[in-house]
Amino acid sequence: MVQQIHTLTADGVGLTVVVPGGGRLPRIVHWGADPGPGVPDAAYGLSALPLLPVQHEGWAGRPALSGDRDGRWQHVRLRLSEDVVLTDTTMVVRAHDEEAGVAVESTVELTPQGVVRMRHTLTNNGPGVWSVAGLRCLLPVPDNAVEKLDMTGRWSLERAPQRGVFGFGSHVRENRRGRTGHDSTLLLSVGTQGFSHRAGQVWSAHVGWSGNHEHTAERMPDSVAALGGGELLEPGEVRLAPGETYRTPTVYFAHSGEGLDGIRDRMHRLIRARANHPRTPRPVVLNTWEAVYFQHDLEKLKELADTAARVGVERFVLDDGWFRHRRHDRAGLGDWFVDETVWPNGLEPLVKHVHGLGMQFGLWFEPEMVNPDSDLFRAHPDWVLAMPGRLPAEFRNQHVLDVSNPDAYAYLLARITELVSSLGIDYIKWDHNRDIHEATSVHRQTLAVYELLRELKARFPALEIESCSSGGARVDLGILEHTDRVWTSDTNDPIDRQQIQLWTGLLLPPELLGAHVGPTRTHITKRVTNLHMRCATALFGHAGMETDLTELDGGEEELGLLTEWVALYKAKRALLHSGRVVVPDLADPSAVVHGIVSHDSTHALFSYAQITSTPANTPLRPDPFRLRLPGLDPDRSYRVEVVFGPHGGGHVPAAFDLADARWTGRALATIGLPLPRLNPADALVLELVA
Ligand code: GLA
Repeated sequence: MVQQIHTLTADGVGLTVVVPGGGRLPRIVHWGADPGPGVPDAAYGLSALPLLPVQHEGWAGRPALSGDRDGRWQHVRLRLSEDVVLTDTTMVVRAHDEEAGVAVESTVELTPQGVVRMRHTLTNNGPGVWSVAGLRCLLPVPDNAVEKLDMTGRWSLERAPQRGVFGFGSHVRENRRGRTGHDSTLLLSVGTQGFSHRAGQVWSAHVGWSGNHEHTAERMPDSVAALGGGELLEPGEVRLAPGETYRTPTVYFAHSGEGLDGIRDRMHRLIRARANHPRTPRPVVLNTWEAVYFQHDLEKLKELADTAARVGVERFVLDDGWFRHRRHDRAGLGDWFVDETVWPNGLEPLVKHVHGLGMQFGLWFEPEMVNPDSDLFRAHPDWVLAMPGRLPAEFRNQHVLDVSNPDAYAYLLARITELVSSLGIDYIKWDHNRDIHEATSVHRQTLAVYELLRELKARFPALEIESCSSGGARVDLGILEHTDRVWTSDTNDPIDRQQIQLWTGLLLPPELLGAHVGPTRTHITKRVTNLHMRCATALFGHAGMETDLTELDGGEEELGLLTEWVALYKAKRALLHSGRVVVPDLADPSAVVHGIVSHDSTHALFSYAQITSTPANTPLRPDPFRLRLPGLDPDRSYRVEVVFGPHGGGHVPAAFDLADARWTGRALATIGLPLPRLNPADALVLELVA
């Protein structure tokens, strides 16, 4: 038997495969830190995870491949169809099961950022229908991965981390919401005991898909542990006719030897290297939703645009409420024509005004949805995504359109095309405000929506699109192949936002995270916060505002501060949107600290936000606490300056004169910067220049 051992390597990561010979599929011996050259032959004998673990390989976990041909051939035994193709960074495997009539092509690629990208394509080569039940991408994780971390959440509180022991059995996160979900896993991570933001080994997986999906971490007593996931398919959802194929979403795998910061760094660099990653400076946004809701009035909106332009806004987005019958959220979805009663002269006067002020114009759509009270529903009740003769329950008074229906697809493409081209729309906020229930095929729906987005981008190459889904319920690398920003959460409460942005940032770099300054009293939580806290929070994303600037509580004074903040964002966004994100490990959960360090380590911005009162066992002000700032060059010396906040100002430089201080990166990481404790719900931003 010919055996071959081969390691794919990139950026300090290694993926070692054994090709056993005799037509058997490769087995993965190792995924983690690069083992270096000369992996000994003894590695052949090590336990390993088959590329597609199934029962005949002795795998007792969830099979990587399952399905059937009319109740037969439920268990597939793949044999190589040709030699495995191996390069320094890729592996392509073609295999088939002659009798079952199934062929699979698998590609495993190690990107220059050290991220493994994997996908499988299955073809039905036999007679009759092959029903796919599951096709998953999995990699092995070692026995010292003993803890797990993933996310949950809900509307307006997305990305809440949950942690636990990674013991024996199957840890399975399933999503049947038809969209990525407020409670999406985001990344399923396992790691060494006590892994943290800055320390420990971590292995993470992300399924790049916006429909139903699953992430799994499984540890069986008689096998190596496996991490990964795939699309979640409902019975009968993917039935392949002879010659047809099914392709899995891409599953992303990242390993770090330096805690979660290493995962952030790899994922952010990978995302930034994409051909479609937005490369122009991320414009300051004014979104009208929490400013005017459905109360659309040309004069009021022009006044809002004037004020926005005055503080430095660069993109004005008209939210929900502009189209026919949409005076409230109970009617109009689907009727994508400008409402003649509210906008007797159309949207042109507003668009012209906004463009005249030098700002881009954005418009809200929710293309996949329809209200029963709409002309569209009355004309085409059969366009709803539903089983024949059965409407699913309404949610937010709306149903889902079957975008895979060619007529519905053509209607949406035509309406959006007409509006974008006739009005000169620069940006679409693309919303999706409900879970999908009882669909015939979320799989087909998801592919059709991706295709619609792709076609619009092809027609309008400069058009940017935001992925919104009642806030952050469609945040994944599938939708981001076609969109340029996510609306991170509907809440603009800076206290909640600190956590939401921090954890969404485990996957996405700051320039993709929509972050807006809201009003003094947050609409969703009713919490009152100061403007410094709100601004310091929104600075670390794709920044904007979402409040009626013409009626701020603090009037001109607040407009002045907003103008200063916008100028700061514009001056620093090149760093904010390119640097490496650093999250210090804090013993004290009452604060959130994170920073962004330029890749040459000469420039950094750090945010310190005090979320709640300090714990009872910490000394009260004015005793300083030590803010340890890791991630800088230990041998360089930095000038440290407070460039924004805290509220009430003044007392930081007065108590601790930072102005003349010079700190080495080593001293900042070890001794830490002495800072006064801020009051709860206050924040400051530090700039460090080498
Ligand atoms: C969703 C979005 C909001 C807003 C409303 C409009 O909830 O997340 O930002 O656009 O819809 O109806």
